[in-house]
Amino acid sequence: MHTVLQVSDTHYFCDPGGLMFGIHSRRSLDHVLDYALNHHATAELVLATGDLVHDGSAAGYQALKEALERLEVPVHCLPGNHDNPEVMAAVLNGPRVTCNRAAELADWKIILLDTRVTGSDGGFLARSELDFLERELSSVRNRHVIIVLHHPPVQIGSLWMDDIGLANAAVFLDMIDRHAQVRAVLFGHIHQEFDRLRRGVRLLGAPSTCAQFKPHTLVHVDDPLPPGYRWLRLAGNGRFETGVARLAHPVADDDH
Ligand SMILES: [Fe+2]
Repeated sequence: MHTVLQVSDTHYFCDPGGLMFGIHSRRSLDHVLDYALNHHATAELVLATGDLVHDGSAAGYQALKEALERLEVPVHCLPGNHDNPEVMAAVLNGPRVTCNRAAELADWKIILLDTRVTGSDGGFLARSELDFLERELSSVRNRHVIIVLHHPPVQIGSLWMDDIGLANAAVFLDMIDRHAQVRAVLFGHIHQEFDRLRRGVRLLGAPSTCAQFKPHTLVHVDDPLPPGYRWLRLAGNGRFETGVARLAHPVADDDH
Protein backbone atom coordinates (compact mmCIF):
# COMPACT_ATOMS: atom_id res chain seq x y z
CA MET A 1 0.00 0.00 0.00
CA HIS A 2 1.16 3.52 -0.80
CA THR A 3 -0.17 6.48 1.19
CA VAL A 4 -0.97 9.81 -0.46
CA LEU A 5 -2.28 12.89 1.36
CA GLN A 6 -4.37 15.73 -0.05
CA VAL A 7 -4.11 19.09 1.70
CA SER A 8 -6.31 21.82 0.29
CA ASP A 9 -7.26 25.46 0.52
CA THR A 10 -4.49 26.48 2.87
CA HIS A 11 -5.34 30.18 2.20
CA TYR A 12 -2.04 31.64 3.38
CA PHE A 13 -1.63 35.42 3.35
CA CYS A 14 1.32 37.77 2.96
CA ASP A 15 0.54 38.77 6.56
CA PRO A 16 1.73 35.96 8.87
CA GLY A 17 -1.30 36.65 11.10
CA GLY A 18 -3.82 36.57 8.24
CA LEU A 19 -7.25 35.12 8.99
CA MET A 20 -9.49 33.12 6.66
CA PHE A 21 -13.08 33.47 7.91
CA GLY A 22 -11.65 34.09 11.38
CA ILE A 23 -9.18 31.16 11.29
CA HIS A 24 -5.42 31.80 11.53
CA SER A 25 -4.52 29.97 8.33
CA ARG A 26 -0.76 29.50 8.96
CA ARG A 27 -1.25 28.27 12.52
CA SER A 28 -4.08 25.97 11.42
CA LEU A 29 -1.90 24.35 8.72
CA ASP A 30 0.91 23.85 11.23
CA HIS A 31 -1.46 21.87 13.47
CA VAL A 32 -2.81 19.86 10.52
CA LEU A 33 0.74 19.00 9.39
CA ASP A 34 1.68 17.97 12.95
CA TYR A 35 -1.33 15.66 12.93
CA ALA A 36 -0.41 14.22 9.52
CA LEU A 37 3.18 13.60 10.62
CA ASN A 38 1.85 11.69 13.64
CA HIS A 39 -0.96 9.76 11.98
CA HIS A 40 0.20 9.27 8.39
CA ALA A 41 3.95 9.20 8.77
CA THR A 42 4.32 6.72 5.91
CA ALA A 43 2.88 9.12 3.32
CA GLU A 44 4.98 9.12 0.15
CA LEU A 45 3.36 11.98 -1.73
CA VAL A 46 1.27 15.04 -0.87
CA LEU A 47 -1.11 16.85 -3.24
CA ALA A 48 -1.88 20.51 -2.47
CA THR A 49 -5.08 21.25 -4.34
CA GLY A 50 -5.32 25.00 -4.73
CA ASP A 51 -6.24 28.23 -2.96
CA LEU A 52 -2.80 27.87 -1.48
CA VAL A 53 -2.21 31.60 -0.96
CA HIS A 54 -5.33 33.75 -0.66
CA ASP A 55 -3.68 36.99 -1.82
CA GLY A 56 -1.29 35.41 -4.32
CA SER A 57 1.73 36.98 -2.57
CA ALA A 58 5.31 35.74 -2.97
CA ALA A 59 5.77 35.98 0.82
CA GLY A 60 2.73 33.74 1.28
CA TYR A 61 4.08 31.10 -1.13
CA GLN A 62 7.51 31.23 0.49
CA ALA A 63 6.03 30.64 3.96
CA LEU A 64 3.82 27.84 2.60
CA LYS A 65 6.79 26.16 0.92
CA GLU A 66 8.73 26.20 4.19
CA ALA A 67 5.74 24.74 6.06
CA LEU A 68 5.18 21.94 3.52
CA GLU A 69 8.88 21.05 3.42
CA ARG A 70 8.48 19.75 6.99
CA LEU A 71 6.72 16.72 5.50
CA GLU A 72 9.99 15.62 3.84
CA VAL A 73 8.17 14.02 0.88
CA PRO A 74 7.35 15.38 -2.59
CA VAL A 75 4.47 17.89 -2.54
CA HIS A 76 2.80 18.62 -5.88
CA CYS A 77 0.86 21.89 -5.98
CA LEU A 78 -1.86 23.10 -8.35
CA PRO A 79 -3.57 26.52 -8.43
CA GLY A 80 -7.06 27.50 -7.28
CA ASN A 81 -9.07 30.63 -7.97
CA HIS A 82 -7.24 32.64 -5.31
CA ASP A 83 -3.74 31.73 -6.50
CA ASN A 84 -1.38 33.68 -8.71
CA PRO A 85 -0.01 30.93 -11.00
CA GLU A 86 3.09 32.87 -12.10
CA VAL A 87 4.20 33.74 -8.56
CA MET A 88 3.26 30.27 -7.39
CA ALA A 89 5.33 28.55 -10.11
CA ALA A 90 8.30 30.83 -9.37
CA VAL A 91 8.33 30.16 -5.61
CA LEU A 92 7.04 26.59 -5.33
CA ASN A 93 9.86 25.01 -7.29
CA GLY A 94 12.20 23.56 -4.69
CA PRO A 95 13.56 20.03 -4.50
CA ARG A 96 10.44 18.77 -2.70
CA VAL A 97 7.62 21.28 -3.15
CA THR A 98 6.90 21.72 -6.85
CA CYS A 99 4.18 22.53 -9.39
CA ASN A 100 4.85 19.27 -11.25
CA ARG A 101 1.85 18.21 -13.32
CA ALA A 102 2.21 14.43 -12.96
CA ALA A 103 3.51 11.85 -10.53
CA GLU A 104 3.99 8.09 -10.59
CA LEU A 105 3.74 5.90 -7.52
CA ALA A 106 4.12 2.13 -8.05
CA ASP A 107 1.46 1.29 -10.64
CA TRP A 108 -0.48 4.51 -10.11
CA LYS A 109 -0.32 7.70 -12.15
CA ILE A 110 -1.47 11.03 -10.75
CA ILE A 111 -2.32 13.87 -13.14
CA LEU A 112 -2.75 17.47 -11.96
CA LEU A 113 -4.87 19.98 -13.89
CA ASP A 114 -5.17 23.78 -13.81
CA THR A 115 -8.82 24.92 -13.76
CA ARG A 116 -8.12 28.53 -12.85
CA VAL A 117 -9.74 31.37 -14.80
CA THR A 118 -8.26 34.86 -14.38
CA GLY A 119 -10.69 37.17 -12.62
CA SER A 120 -13.23 34.46 -11.78
CA ASP A 121 -13.94 32.24 -8.79
CA GLY A 122 -15.37 29.59 -11.11
CA GLY A 123 -13.24 27.02 -12.94
CA PHE A 124 -12.78 25.98 -16.57
CA LEU A 125 -10.51 23.50 -18.33
CA ALA A 126 -8.86 25.29 -21.24
CA ARG A 127 -8.30 23.38 -24.49
CA SER A 128 -4.60 23.06 -23.58
CA GLU A 129 -5.50 21.38 -20.26
CA LEU A 130 -7.92 18.98 -21.94
CA ASP A 131 -5.29 18.14 -24.58
CA PHE A 132 -2.71 17.54 -21.80
CA LEU A 133 -5.13 15.23 -19.98
CA GLU A 134 -5.97 13.32 -23.15
CA ARG A 135 -2.26 12.84 -23.92
CA GLU A 136 -1.53 11.66 -20.38
CA LEU A 137 -4.51 9.30 -20.27
CA SER A 138 -3.62 7.84 -23.68
CA SER A 139 -0.06 7.09 -22.59
CA VAL A 140 -0.56 5.51 -19.14
CA ARG A 141 -0.88 1.92 -20.38
CA ASN A 142 -1.17 -0.32 -17.31
CA ARG A 143 -1.28 2.29 -14.61
CA HIS A 144 -4.32 3.26 -12.52
CA VAL A 145 -5.08 6.97 -12.65
CA ILE A 146 -6.06 9.67 -10.17
CA ILE A 147 -6.89 13.10 -11.60
CA VAL A 148 -6.46 16.11 -9.34
CA LEU A 149 -7.92 19.60 -9.84
CA HIS A 150 -9.22 22.52 -7.76
CA HIS A 151 -12.84 22.91 -8.90
CA PRO A 152 -15.35 20.06 -8.42
CA PRO A 153 -16.56 18.49 -11.71
CA VAL A 154 -20.04 17.83 -10.25
CA GLN A 155 -22.58 19.85 -8.33
CA ILE A 156 -22.25 19.37 -4.59
CA GLY A 157 -25.69 20.61 -3.55
CA SER A 158 -24.72 24.08 -2.29
CA LEU A 159 -26.16 26.71 -4.61
CA TRP A 160 -23.47 29.36 -4.08
CA MET A 161 -20.66 26.85 -4.55
CA ASP A 162 -22.26 25.16 -7.56
CA ASP A 163 -22.34 28.59 -9.23
CA ILE A 164 -18.52 28.65 -9.09
CA GLY A 165 -17.78 25.00 -9.97
CA LEU A 166 -16.16 23.65 -13.14
CA ALA A 167 -18.07 25.29 -16.01
CA ASN A 168 -17.17 22.66 -18.63
CA ALA A 169 -17.43 19.64 -16.35
CA ALA A 170 -19.38 17.68 -18.98
CA VAL A 171 -16.41 17.70 -21.38
CA PHE A 172 -14.11 16.52 -18.59
CA LEU A 173 -16.47 13.73 -17.49
CA ASP A 174 -16.91 12.59 -21.12
CA MET A 175 -13.14 12.29 -21.37
CA ILE A 176 -12.70 10.22 -18.23
CA ASP A 177 -15.61 8.00 -19.33
CA ARG A 178 -13.48 7.06 -22.37
CA HIS A 179 -10.50 6.00 -20.23
CA ALA A 180 -11.19 2.98 -18.03
CA GLN A 181 -7.97 3.40 -15.99
CA VAL A 182 -9.34 6.42 -14.09
CA ARG A 183 -10.11 5.42 -10.50
CA ALA A 184 -10.63 8.73 -8.71
CA VAL A 185 -10.89 12.49 -9.13
CA LEU A 186 -9.70 14.64 -6.21
CA PHE A 187 -10.64 18.27 -5.79
CA GLY A 188 -10.56 21.15 -3.30
CA HIS A 189 -12.48 24.46 -3.44
CA ILE A 190 -15.48 23.28 -1.38
CA HIS A 191 -13.84 23.28 2.10
CA GLN A 192 -15.81 20.16 3.08
CA GLU A 193 -15.73 16.40 2.72
CA PHE A 194 -17.35 14.95 -0.41
CA ASP A 195 -17.43 11.34 -1.62
CA ARG A 196 -19.54 10.13 -4.53
CA LEU A 197 -19.20 7.18 -6.90
CA ARG A 198 -19.90 8.00 -10.56
CA ARG A 199 -19.60 5.25 -13.19
CA GLY A 200 -16.96 3.44 -11.16
CA VAL A 201 -14.90 6.58 -10.43
CA ARG A 202 -14.75 8.07 -6.91
CA LEU A 203 -15.25 11.84 -6.87
CA LEU A 204 -13.60 13.08 -3.68
CA GLY A 205 -13.52 16.52 -2.08
CA ALA A 206 -11.37 17.50 0.88
CA PRO A 207 -11.77 19.81 3.85
CA SER A 208 -9.67 22.95 4.03
CA THR A 209 -6.67 23.07 6.32
CA CYS A 210 -8.29 26.19 7.85
CA ALA A 211 -11.95 27.34 7.44
CA GLN A 212 -14.73 24.79 6.82
CA PHE A 213 -17.97 25.37 4.84
CA LYS A 214 -21.27 23.76 5.76
CA PRO A 215 -22.69 21.39 3.10
CA HIS A 216 -26.07 21.92 1.43
CA THR A 217 -26.47 25.66 1.89
CA LEU A 218 -27.75 28.42 -0.39
CA VAL A 219 -25.05 30.87 0.67
CA HIS A 220 -21.69 30.58 2.40
CA VAL A 221 -22.06 29.33 6.00
CA ASP A 222 -19.07 28.60 8.26
CA ASP A 223 -18.91 25.08 9.64
CA PRO A 224 -17.36 24.74 13.13
CA LEU A 225 -15.77 21.38 12.21
CA PRO A 226 -12.02 21.21 12.82
CA PRO A 227 -9.63 21.45 9.85
CA GLY A 228 -8.12 18.39 8.22
CA TYR A 229 -6.97 16.61 5.09
CA ARG A 230 -7.80 13.58 2.95
CA TRP A 231 -5.68 10.42 2.97
CA LEU A 232 -5.58 7.65 0.38
CA ARG A 233 -4.00 4.22 0.62
CA LEU A 234 -3.35 2.87 -2.86
CA ALA A 235 -3.19 -0.88 -3.46
CA GLY A 236 -1.59 -2.65 -6.37
CA ASN A 237 -4.77 -3.76 -8.07
CA GLY A 238 -6.34 -0.34 -8.65
CA ARG A 239 -8.24 -0.50 -5.38
CA PHE A 240 -7.77 2.09 -2.67
CA GLU A 241 -9.02 3.20 0.71
CA THR A 242 -9.66 6.83 1.53
CA GLY A 243 -10.95 9.00 4.34
CA VAL A 244 -10.74 12.40 5.92
CA ALA A 245 -8.67 13.07 9.03
CA ARG A 246 -9.45 16.07 11.20
CA LEU A 247 -7.95 17.62 14.30
CA ALA A 248 -9.84 16.87 17.50
CA HIS A 249 -10.73 20.56 17.92
CA PRO A 250 -10.72 23.74 15.79
CA VAL A 251 -7.53 25.76 16.22
CA ALA A 252 -8.14 28.42 18.86
CA ASP A 253 -6.99 32.03 18.33
CA ASP A 254 -4.50 31.81 21.18
CA ASP A 255 -3.27 28.32 20.24
CA HIS A 256 0.40 28.21 19.20
FE1 LIG B 1 -10.71 27.91 -0.91
